[in-house]
Amino acid sequence: ATVVLAYSGGLDTSVAIRWIKEKYNLDVIAVTIDVGNERNMQEISERATRIGAVKSMVVDGREDFVRYFVWPALQAGAIYEGQYPLATALARPLIARLLVEVARQEGAVAVAHGCTGKGNDQVRFDVSINTLAPDLKIIAPVREWSMTRDNEIAYAAEHNIPIKATSASPYSVDQNLWGRSIECGILEDPWEEPPADVFDWTADPDSVTLEPTYHEITFEHGIPVALNGEEIPGYTLVETLNSEAGKYGIGRIDHVENRLIGIKSREIYEAPAAVVLHAAHNALEGLTLSREQIRFKETIAAEYARLIYNGQWYSALHQDLAAYVQSTQRFVSGTVRVKLSRGRCQIVGRKSDSSLYSLGLATYDSGDQFDHNAALGFIKLWALPLTTQAQAQLLPSIG
Ligand code: ARG
Ligand code: SIN
Repeated sequence: ATVVLAYSGGLDTSVAIRWIKEKYNLDVIAVTIDVGNERNMQEISERATRIGAVKSMVVDGREDFVRYFVWPALQAGAIYEGQYPLATALARPLIARLLVEVARQEGAVAVAHGCTGKGNDQVRFDVSINTLAPDLKIIAPVREWSMTRDNEIAYAAEHNIPIKATSASPYSVDQNLWGRSIECGILEDPWEEPPADVFDWTADPDSVTLEPTYHEITFEHGIPVALNGEEIPGYTLVETLNSEAGKYGIGRIDHVENRLIGIKSREIYEAPAAVVLHAAHNALEGLTLSREQIRFKETIAAEYARLIYNGQWYSALHQDLAAYVQSTQRFVSGTVRVKLSRGRCQIVGRKSDSSLYSLGLATYDSGDQFDHNAALGFIKLWALPLTTQAQAQLLPSIG
């Protein structure tokens, strides 16, 4: 019988290949899923067979990731606790779906992943897999074995499992197109400033010497479709912004977050494109949505972010919220100009054919069409409940 393992090439999942065989006597099919996380996918995948997987494959999930996960989250304005653009959390339900697909093709009895027992990721994987394929057994070696990192390294040595030098990194890192998540080591002390070696996608903002640059991002129904007037595929657009904004040290996030399982965790994120695109999208909504739509959508955005973070992607509530979000994006089309400078992404211009901004109403110069007299009547009625209540309740108690 076989098990389909989500293989990252790191220490945990490399050791897992042999451990699963020993403990469960299952043959491991290693699936390396490309969500824009690594360049050398083929090489990683081949390592799995060298370690003892009966089969290894690379599945390209990049296009689906952008189209079905990243863009909807951007349209929703989904940012967890106001800080984390959810890169890791968004990729988990896609990876779960692809694991299940491979398990079906291969007739596997189980799927396996390398999450620990104290994180969010185990929940996201297990809940998604249970929802999509309730009959599949889930094996989570790292959650089941009681090995420390040193034990794992010793196990690897004993079993001739080649481990890469990067496995010696003091940090636990997960990355994909939408961002990079770093934890562990010195970062576990929330008082410690993150050392330079934590960062990989972003320059130190304080040592940036580049002159500022401008970029124009064009959206259609809340989805970025062009950069600087040129239509480019979503994947390339995000990649380009990651590197352009990363050069300015934009997109560093230092977040003490609340995990679903109840602990607080200090996490560093690098998400240059996500930070720029959320800011730009938000600016375009500012131009094209009404005050009431914006206010209500903020509550939807927070719910949407929590739902993603908490592993409830494959839920009816998600479908409902997604439908609402799609409706809000009908007129969110136009172009936003952003200025990138050291550590900073500023929105400096926005325009849309569906803009609700009216110069005639807003101007203080000649051409003003706003009815100033109407303001008097408005203020009178707006104040009416306040003056009524003040007379009846508040003023007597003061006087
Ligand atoms: N805390 C983030 C989340 O729950 C990232 C988790 C993965 N991070 C990591 N360094 N392995 O989505
Ligand atoms: C893990 O513990 O497996 C990674 C962190 C997380 O899932 O929150």
